Amino acid sequence: MEITNQKSISYTKAGTFEETRFEKIHNVIFKDSKEPSILVAQEIADLIRAKEKQNKPCVLGLATGSSPIKVYEELVRMHKEEGLSFANVITFNLDEYYPMEQGNIQSYYYFMHEHLFNHVDILPENVNVPSGTVSSENLYQYCIDYEMKIQAVGGLDFQLLGIGRTGHIGFNEPGSHLNSGTRSITLDHITRVDAAPAFLGIENVPRKAITMGIGTVLKAKRIILLGWGGNKASILKETIEGNINSEVPATYLQNHNNTTFLIDEAAASELTRVKTPWLVTNCVWNDDLKLKAVVWLSELTNNSILKLTDKDYNNNGMSGLLTEEGTAYDLNIKMFNKLQHTITGWPGGKPDADDSNRPERASIPKKRVIIFSPHPDDDVISMGGTFDRLVEQGHEVHIAYQTSGNIAVSDEEALKFAEITQNLCPDCEETQSIINFLKIKTENDIDSVKVRQLKGLIRRSESLAATRYFGLKDEHVHFLDLPFYETGTIKKNNISIVDIDIMCDIIDTIKPHQIYAAGDLADPHGTHKVCLDSLFEALKVLKPNDYMKDCWVWLYRGAWHEWESYQIEMAVPMSPDQVLRKRHAIFYHQSQKDGVMFQGGDSREFWVRAEDRNRLTAKKYNDLGLADYAAIEAFKRYHF
Ligand code: F6R
Repeated sequence: MEITNQKSISYTKAGTFEETRFEKIHNVIFKDSKEPSILVAQEIADLIRAKEKQNKPCVLGLATGSSPIKVYEELVRMHKEEGLSFANVITFNLDEYYPMEQGNIQSYYYFMHEHLFNHVDILPENVNVPSGTVSSENLYQYCIDYEMKIQAVGGLDFQLLGIGRTGHIGFNEPGSHLNSGTRSITLDHITRVDAAPAFLGIENVPRKAITMGIGTVLKAKRIILLGWGGNKASILKETIEGNINSEVPATYLQNHNNTTFLIDEAAASELTRVKTPWLVTNCVWNDDLKLKAVVWLSELTNNSILKLTDKDYNNNGMSGLLTEEGTAYDLNIKMFNKLQHTITGWPGGKPDADDSNRPERASIPKKRVIIFSPHPDDDVISMGGTFDRLVEQGHEVHIAYQTSGNIAVSDEEALKFAEITQNLCPDCEETQSIINFLKIKTENDIDSVKVRQLKGLIRRSESLAATRYFGLKDEHVHFLDLPFYETGTIKKNNISIVDIDIMCDIIDTIKPHQIYAAGDLADPHGTHKVCLDSLFEALKVLKPNDYMKDCWVWLYRGAWHEWESYQIEMAVPMSPDQVLRKRHAIFYHQSQKDGVMFQGGDSREFWVRAEDRNRLTAKKYNDLGLADYAAIEAFKRYHF
């Protein structure tokens, strides 16, 4: 398996195929997006310089979206620090919403200037982004001209791509033709759902776009596609392993012989060689891989673990494992026990019990616990049952809300509270100015500081209602309001030393024996990941302290995904009554009910999703042959 994350290693060149018969596109898997983004920037820089030496223009096809942002950051750095010049560069962007004004902060024109063009020495006349303001009568000819302009400068030397969950490249949505050129297109519903947070609601997302065609892209001499995060995993599997078909337009790239996909581990997680490596190659079997394989086999054969036979193993690529383990009987029992030992009703450890086969320590019977919650509701949505138990079992539980969550409160909700306040205090000028602002606010306006404050306060009071319901004292509830989040827009700042200091402070003050945090990297707008990174950085700083030796970190997942059964290291079962208590706690977060902005592709309400997910985890355990619980919350330990 080719996984690389070292700076010095560059990836193998396109055309050298993977060692799996399943894959049809050259791809390289990296630990995260940082390293490959730098490698792509280097490849682009090399190309620019090579063309410059030949006195030729370098023609780049560029993408927008979250995937290429770090590539542009690195190119800007190279320009500023290493003198990389863009004077000979001509760019063509893949797409633009239609209709769309250039000055609109949602426009791809704005995005490209913000992330790249404003910071390098590219000549303005060499920048081409499809125009979202062409009249509909002129649109057809405009698209033909865009296509001709690319050809006139010698065609694309390099094309950078992201991939949408529909399998689109550019905005070539399902149904796009192999030979399509630049044209206008109707956006797929899923694409509009994914864009909704940036537009503060799906109703504001344009229905149409202009995009280069599949044919335009395939004519590029070199293509690199970037894919980051678990949200892209299943479409990348279809693209890399499926048959070429217009329903997944990115599969057309299988026909291009100089294409490389650079993807991170989360995005690669559905590829056969990653998900079920025993079907592809001889594996080195450690305990984690054994459990993964046994759980997979049990699900595949619809048999509980203890019923798996030698034949099941031999028929499904695991004969090597059986040779190592002896018989299916021995292996089954070993793996069954491993799973069995993850289950505990005592997430803080069971005092005075033998803990050799329990996930948590019995020692330190009353633990100090910090539950970090990225937004002011992830605590109850993702681990409400465990939270409730920890308090009930007498541990000193603290909740730390990492961000204010203000962006997710609608203007209507804020207006409601402002008007109530105004009725109580008719003379309050501040309230009046908030009301005035909200009444004339347009979709392009960023909330004033006061409006953001009000929205944050609404979320605070909802959180306090929920934590009080679980019996927590108010002084154990901490609102960190990490500054990286406070931009007033969807795009957040990178974490800074100030964020990390705040995280360090709270850990250092409480000196916890347990930390719970959201290990959910699939958050559609990235806040969970930044919150997790801020914790990891804080842990690095604090590690040398003596008290940290007693501190264990448990990761739950946010509202979007759950740990796979084989990844779970602590499974906390819930009774039907506890499920109801959790539901009740989620209900306090009233501003997050009914079609809120950040639901991703899933329009179920948070409490429904949480219950379905916890019920499903319990069912999976039961199907594997373990006890039948109403619901289970799942955690994985993070070793630092
Ligand atoms: C953007 C574009 C799209 C995106 C794709 C992935 O110019 O052409 O195809 O590359 O929607 O978007 P992100 O990178 O935001 O996941």
